[in-house]
Amino acid sequence: MYLKLKPALSLILLLLIHLPFAHAQQKSVDHQVDSLMRLMTLQEKIGQLNQYSDDWTATGPVTVDNDKTRQVRNGLVGSMLNCKGTDRTRWWQEAAMKSRLKIPLLFGQDVVHGYKTTFPIPLAEACSWDIDALSLSARTAATEASAGGIHWTFAPMVDIARDPRWGRVMEGAGEDPYLGSLIAAARVKGFQGNKLGDVNSVMACAKHFAAYGAAIGGRDYNTVDMSERMLWEVYLPPFKAAVDAGVATFMNSFNILNGIPATGNSYLQREILKGQWGFKGFVVSDWNSIGEMVTHGFVKNDYEAALAAITAGSDLDMESRCYKNNLAQLVTEGKVPLALVDDAVRRILEKKFELGLFDDPFKYCNAEREQKELNDPENPKIAREMAVRSIVLLKNQNNLLPLSKSTKTIAFIGPLVKAVKQNKGFWDVEVPGVDSGFIVSQWEGVKNKIGADAKLLYAKGCEIEGSDKSGFAEAVNIANQADVVILSIGERRNMSGEAHSRSNIGIPGVQEDLLKELLATGKPVVVLINAGRPLIFNYTADNAPAILYTWWLGSEAGNAIADVIFGDYNPSAKLTISFPLSVGQIPVYYSHLNTGRPASGQGNTSSYIDLSNYPKYEFGYGLSYSTFEYSNLTLSSDKMKSDEKLVATVIIKNTGKYAGEEIVQLYLRDVVSSIVRPVKELKDFKKIALKAGESKTITFTIDKEKLSFYNQQLKRVAEPGDFDLMIGASSKDIRLTDKFELVN
Ligand code: BGC
Repeated sequence: MYLKLKPALSLILLLLIHLPFAHAQQKSVDHQVDSLMRLMTLQEKIGQLNQYSDDWTATGPVTVDNDKTRQVRNGLVGSMLNCKGTDRTRWWQEAAMKSRLKIPLLFGQDVVHGYKTTFPIPLAEACSWDIDALSLSARTAATEASAGGIHWTFAPMVDIARDPRWGRVMEGAGEDPYLGSLIAAARVKGFQGNKLGDVNSVMACAKHFAAYGAAIGGRDYNTVDMSERMLWEVYLPPFKAAVDAGVATFMNSFNILNGIPATGNSYLQREILKGQWGFKGFVVSDWNSIGEMVTHGFVKNDYEAALAAITAGSDLDMESRCYKNNLAQLVTEGKVPLALVDDAVRRILEKKFELGLFDDPFKYCNAEREQKELNDPENPKIAREMAVRSIVLLKNQNNLLPLSKSTKTIAFIGPLVKAVKQNKGFWDVEVPGVDSGFIVSQWEGVKNKIGADAKLLYAKGCEIEGSDKSGFAEAVNIANQADVVILSIGERRNMSGEAHSRSNIGIPGVQEDLLKELLATGKPVVVLINAGRPLIFNYTADNAPAILYTWWLGSEAGNAIADVIFGDYNPSAKLTISFPLSVGQIPVYYSHLNTGRPASGQGNTSSYIDLSNYPKYEFGYGLSYSTFEYSNLTLSSDKMKSDEKLVATVIIKNTGKYAGEEIVQLYLRDVVSSIVRPVKELKDFKKIALKAGESKTITFTIDKEKLSFYNQQLKRVAEPGDFDLMIGASSKDIRLTDKFELVN
């Protein structure tokens, strides 16, 4: 408090603090941070490294500490999470403004797929392969969240995930490092906008560093053990892409990586992230991941946990209180050099300056702006556009879809037809003062779409889980009255997500039994599968004539589903993660190695005796109401020097009746190399729109980087030799191939 200081010192402080801030634009952030840090006590510095969650109810200051507010007033807290809405953030910021140095709080929140307007879950959005749309989704979320007082989102999650048992597959972009990197960058840019400091920008956070998605057995928080090569080739690229896109922050992860918890891992955080990659932002721990190093058996107690974490480069402590309770002692005892603490503090303060919080700590607390942005009529339109682009058409026998809007009687059946909140999926944000009434249910969406004369019948049929079949008769009864049946089944929204791993990833309960009965009526059945992960549904896949994988599509789910069912949007999404045939295949992914005895060979091969090696639906798979023909692949040369570029062209023609979009995929294989390479790797793609009958020539440029991999010394090299080039509509549906040689 100024009042407690001697008057002369107070004056100097006032000048030192306020004058420079008033002239922020003339001074570099570094300089301002220097000036501020010279004034800070060790306790105040450690305060900046301390992050608390708000009380969940946000109605009063009762907290696990019982004194969070006092700590904020004393400058002992640098950041809060889970406080939302301008009223609440203003309240906390006012408390921070009572502290001696008036250092503003940073407000973080998991804005994972939207704030008020909920977008499709990230895995669904990824299936659009639409970089601009993905970026716009993040931009819209950032605009709403920043208007709601949030400075910082804990997103994007850029963990590669190849095990659909892991509940958090819903939160990432799927299995592929190339596509995952592009999506990571798009999301970072979307959240951060033109620059930090713009009032509608929030800081992004690349998480969870690193390899969290490779939890053994798909069990959340489980151990990760992998080769350096796998780490560098598959799991690190999206993080590097996030750094290159200017991501402001990183979050480390709960898991152990090769024996060392990520949170206490200097190799990851200091050597790679802050060293080799030159990352200038700060790293937040995951929730209590510093404290959990004790449970892992890596350190004896919180004191050692704090030592390990700060040494390894974890800057901000989310909720463990290990820094708050131990760092001062560690510094005093000389175990932690003050320079380490200073570096962490500096990184955090820099971001606060860049956000403009020292100029105006209440910059993001404008209630008028909050009302305006949260009710912007454009946002649901953007969400609907993103949602239609996320729906994957898996099957469409005899062109059952799209349905005609003049279909006379439709039976809309299933436990998810009238569900509202379910459509938001996991990681939605409960925005203060907003109920879920604005979410468009699937029922409403379809009802609004069909003509006034059409009859829409409803039966729930069964619950998502359980064995009760008493609703089947009613469902069959209305199916018999209808021209077509739409059946909406799947998981509960919280059957995937954090701490929601499943060992059985089938469609729960008796939902597939219901489908069996409906099919027995002889009526055509369109199945909608709602889920946060790839499910296994072989009966449905083999027997239902039409299947749309709708994931969780967010606020506009019902409208988007209706748009696709009735052909106002021709589906264009393709899977970014393989859908296994059976849990026994996991992990199954397209970019595997050939082995010495590939399954395609004779005799003893690397295959199961009771199951195919191939997934039910492969990476890159997805249908359209149209068909696309690929022809005339030409290469600019059959040889390429490493400083040259090779151009591949191909003609794509829409041979169907509808205008549509196709995702044309380019895969390469390095045939012989010092490190054995996968049978194919995605290296480029183009998403193109074609009117019925229209053709376009697509061009891909291949440069040295696309031919490079990590050699034995983990250096990126492109080795001379032969390459197979494959262009296709999925990782399996390769339409055209060629070869070329990289020469010295
Ligand atoms: C999750 C993070 C999340 C954090 C804060 C953790 O349990 O792993 O992804 O950002 O909680 O909510």
